[in-house]
Amino acid sequence: MPERQLAVVVLAAGQGTRMKSSTPKVLHRLAGLPLIQHVLETAGALQPDHLVTVVRHERDLVVASVLDTAPHALVVDQDDVPGTGRAVEQAVEALPAEFTGDVVVVSADVPFLDHATLEALLDQHRSASASATLLSAVLPDATGYGRVVRRDSGDVDRIVEHKDATDDERAVREINSGTYAFTVAALRTHLPRIGSANAQNEKYVTDMVGLLTGAGEVVGARAIDETWRLEGINDRVQLAAAARRLNDRIVEHWQREGVSIVDPQTTWIDRDVSLSPDVELLPGTQLRGATYVAAGAVVGPDTTLVDTEVGEGATVKRTDATLAVIGARASVGPFAYLRPNTLLSADGKIGTFVETKNVQIGEGSKVPHLSYVGDTEVGEGSNIGAGTITANYDGVHKHRTEVGSHVRTGSHNVFVAPVRIGDGAYTGAGTIVRKDVPAGALALSIAPQRNASGWVEANRPGSAAAEAAARAERTTD
Ligand code: UD1
Ligand code: CA
Repeated sequence: MPERQLAVVVLAAGQGTRMKSSTPKVLHRLAGLPLIQHVLETAGALQPDHLVTVVRHERDLVVASVLDTAPHALVVDQDDVPGTGRAVEQAVEALPAEFTGDVVVVSADVPFLDHATLEALLDQHRSASASATLLSAVLPDATGYGRVVRRDSGDVDRIVEHKDATDDERAVREINSGTYAFTVAALRTHLPRIGSANAQNEKYVTDMVGLLTGAGEVVGARAIDETWRLEGINDRVQLAAAARRLNDRIVEHWQREGVSIVDPQTTWIDRDVSLSPDVELLPGTQLRGATYVAAGAVVGPDTTLVDTEVGEGATVKRTDATLAVIGARASVGPFAYLRPNTLLSADGKIGTFVETKNVQIGEGSKVPHLSYVGDTEVGEGSNIGAGTITANYDGVHKHRTEVGSHVRTGSHNVFVAPVRIGDGAYTGAGTIVRKDVPAGALALSIAPQRNASGWVEANRPGSAAAEAAARAERTTD
């Protein structure tokens, strides 16, 4: 017998009122990914024939995020009728009339649901030939969730929402996770019968359960042990708790892969980060986006890397970097700020109180202290003196600075772009480089120093400076 057809419906139309946010709830991030992305990935892993997402609140933003990971998803706009029941009804209406299989319904705000759990739900649903099967969990505190009401026989009878429940029903600790498998036939028959006479004046999809059992159809419930997988995110307290939980798991995963994490509590690692064995992460490190750290590198303390690549054996200390590439054995920080498109080659250095942006620094080249370097290319083996500023912006346009290989520039230089300093050139301390410096030349722009002897004695007689100067004269006499 061929496998039954499958549609997965992701509910994402709700306003997320309890979040009190201008960002739609399902776009709040967990380990770097919007909540809905976690759910879409799990939904997609079932390889459904149809993946449907129901949207309404901030629909354009949500749709953009959906199409990002699931370009083939069918997007359904929920109308004015509120409630999860209406959302599922419209999703089913959007399926082809000839679709005859099962419909798995998931909520975009239940991010820890995993593929194995969904697969097991669907297996149980199909092998029991049920009209509906729901995922449930027994929680120590079920407040806020819909409760699974069972008959004396133990069979599922119906679901009652927290707001509609009696005290006895609220004492039930088995919760509805909002994840279900239905036959499309059951949905087509019973969804139109759902009313909205309840505390929230909404069409609840949960009413399907009572309608089906009332009609004598088979409804199953699968209670899972990993109860945390079914926790929904409705407010920022739950979001932070979920972020902590997911981070703990990610940290443990990398520890088991050979990464040293000195302080798991203050180390935050996004889901799409990848790390090699023998990486060491020091306290206060946040690795975000698609950051990659190669073997033997030491990152932290107090470092945030976003979409950044760190090479083998590099050290990155007290640094903030975005879209940067740090080469093997290179050293960055402490107190460095690497802005997008910073490329530091192998054995290079970006040191203390240095800001970079759109720079390519060649092998072994160094920007060690107190500098701003932007829109610049530096060759190999060069050293940029302490306190150097690239003046790359004339107020209208950005210009490039080019520094060759084996260049030595003096302290406190300004490179006024566009300008080029040739291979092997030197610049004196305090030089303002406005013209190109030929290879091998020494550039000086400061007037020779003139000392006015006896100036202090003449102009500040009797001062501590004058007395110190007089003492110095006596000892050198
Ligand atoms: C829902 C369930 C509840 C269950 C809980 C599990 C209902 C009536 N209640 O409650 O039994 O214990 O999930 O987390 O289903 N949505 C729409 N359209 C709407 C309303 C909501 O698409 O008109 C979406 C939301 O974006 C969300 C999901 O459906 O992703 C669940 O909605 P939410 O308001 O969070 O339901 P809960 O009150 O948590
Ligand atoms: Ca919810």
